[in-house]
Amino acid sequence: MSPFPAHLLSMDDLGTEEIVEVLEVADSFVEVGRRANPKVPTLRGRTVATLFFEDSTRTRMSFETAAKRMSADVLSFAPGSSSVKKGESLRDTIETIEAIGIDGVIIRHASSGVPARAAGWLDHCSVINAGDGWHQHPTQALLDLYTVRQAFGGGDSGLARFEGMQVVIVGDIRHSRVARSQITAYTALGAEVTLVAPTTLLPPSLEGWPVTSVTQHLDDVLPKADVVSLLRVQSERGSGEFVPTLREYTADYGLTARRATMLQPGAFILHPGPIVRGVEIASEVAELPAALITDQVSNGVAVRMAVLFLLLGQGTLGGAHRG
Ligand code: CP
Repeated sequence: MSPFPAHLLSMDDLGTEEIVEVLEVADSFVEVGRRANPKVPTLRGRTVATLFFEDSTRTRMSFETAAKRMSADVLSFAPGSSSVKKGESLRDTIETIEAIGIDGVIIRHASSGVPARAAGWLDHCSVINAGDGWHQHPTQALLDLYTVRQAFGGGDSGLARFEGMQVVIVGDIRHSRVARSQITAYTALGAEVTLVAPTTLLPPSLEGWPVTSVTQHLDDVLPKADVVSLLRVQSERGSGEFVPTLREYTADYGLTARRATMLQPGAFILHPGPIVRGVEIASEVAELPAALITDQVSNGVAVRMAVLFLLLGQGTLGGAHRG
């Protein structure tokens, strides 16, 4: 098996073997999470910083929970009360954080490519991309895979079930780092991905995207889906200008109660969150047993523990790139 990469910037950094490794390591951290005292000493002596230049609830909180459960020290950087407000550049901020003696930085930024730029500036510190612009959100895709594997169960650690699995991703593909990461993740395990979106919410070109089909007709693909993964209309990226009205969007692309009845028994519904009830998903659909939205959040802690372990905790000082 090739060594785990020094940084996790994109799902493209991981081959199928590394993806499976994350899922299998996460199994042991799910078990830790069930203990009365869900804490292990794995990252004692390491320090992790979360740098969120863009809003987050679940990603920031689950990374910080994951690091604390592994006994790492956690520093939470708040751009609004930092020297960024005095004009300090991104590079100087990043290099200052490394000079303090941080082992890992978890970065979210509205601009695509910031985590990769940061990785280029750092010598001793692993970077994890917690979502950059439209580009990538790799730990979201990994926790989605984990949740689907857990839901379907089965032999071969649940991995065989992905072969030929019909995954339908619905919504604002154009602006979605989650969709870009999910497509790589699902197809790496043998699933077939169909995209459903108005043409205005698709990227200008899908050349090189390993998707099986693209359609504007959600009703046609729902009955064959094993997994339906919904995306929010990302108003913070101007998506509202790409659809006539949210009401029309919901009429054509929302997973309404009527549409949910079209799903085959045993199909699952995922959403990375935050959900906007009544737009991309009806409130009652979000509460169905088939909806795995809270499982995704719970599994996110164990999956992020696995990523932190593989980057920072494998015996050598600071993980793979320092070994
Ligand atoms: N799914 C996700 O990234 O959620 P947050 O924006 O709340 O972190």
